[in-house]
Amino acid sequence: MSMRVVVLGATRGMGREVARRLAERGDHLVLLGRKQEDLDAAQADLEGRGAAEVVTRVFDLADADAFEPAIDAAASALGTLDAVVVTASLFGTQEDLEADLGVTAQLLDVNFTKTILFCEVARTRLMEMGGGSLVVFSSVAGDRGRRSNGLYSATKAGLSHYLEALDHRFHDQGLHTLCVKPGFIRTGMTEGLDEPPFTGEPDEVSRLVVAAMDRKAPMVYAPRIWQLVMLVISFLPRFVMRRVGF
Ligand SMILES: NC(=O)c1ccc[n+]([C@@H]2O[C@H](COP(=O)([O-])OP(=O)(O)OC[C@H]3O[C@@H](n4cnc5c(N)ncnc54)[C@H](OP(=O)(O)O)[C@@H]3O)[C@@H](O)[C@H]2O)c1
Repeated sequence: MSMRVVVLGATRGMGREVARRLAERGDHLVLLGRKQEDLDAAQADLEGRGAAEVVTRVFDLADADAFEPAIDAAASALGTLDAVVVTASLFGTQEDLEADLGVTAQLLDVNFTKTILFCEVARTRLMEMGGGSLVVFSSVAGDRGRRSNGLYSATKAGLSHYLEALDHRFHDQGLHTLCVKPGFIRTGMTEGLDEPPFTGEPDEVSRLVVAAMDRKAPMVYAPRIWQLVMLVISFLPRFVMRRVGF
């Protein structure tokens, strides 16, 4: 049966690929994004791929006043909601963030505070409508503190922690929480950065994410190899991390 899904972040990267996969199976979609022209292009693309319905709404994750109206409008446009997918977030290199605390404050606010507030609004509405899936993109970067990305990764660590707690708190009341932990993926966010081993593609991530949505998994690493990589890294003693400059 087709699903009714809100996607925040469908204009680019992994969010676009997830929305495409949902469209290809005939789902009903509401796209939330910053620019109407990008939303229009995404709508045309998704309708061409078979979406049963695509509704768009200009939305900025930095603006908490917009959260409840956006989720309410999405629910009334689609009749009900089965899932809310959040891929939107900001990124900055450690060097750029350290050089500008204003930019750092914006990233900490959007990636942590505003993302969690949006999740609170979304999960409340999903539960009021009988339950559903809250699918949120965190990162492998949140699993360990590293010298190269401490500010960005701190937001993902906090987000992963929140999502795990949400799963424990509301699972029995019909909320399915899925924390997605991508490794390094080729998207606009990582353009120009040195690619590590096991760099992945957004399409592969979207396949794993939609499969995890279907089986109601609480967490998924994508590509899969990153689960093993992070297992090994989780056991590295701090002195080893320091010695190898990790
Ligand atoms: N790429 C990686 O290697 C990687 C690795 C681990 C985790 N992640 C995480 O995975 C998620 C998706 O990453 P990606 O690489 O697909 O990113 P991306 O290609 O940069 O796409 C980000 C999306 O988020 C939207 N967005 C950003 N800020 C927003 C805001 N304030 N309000 C509304 N929408 C906003 C962007 O919209 P606009 O078009 O308006 O900018 C875009 O659609 C992110 O949470 C990221 O942190 C990425």
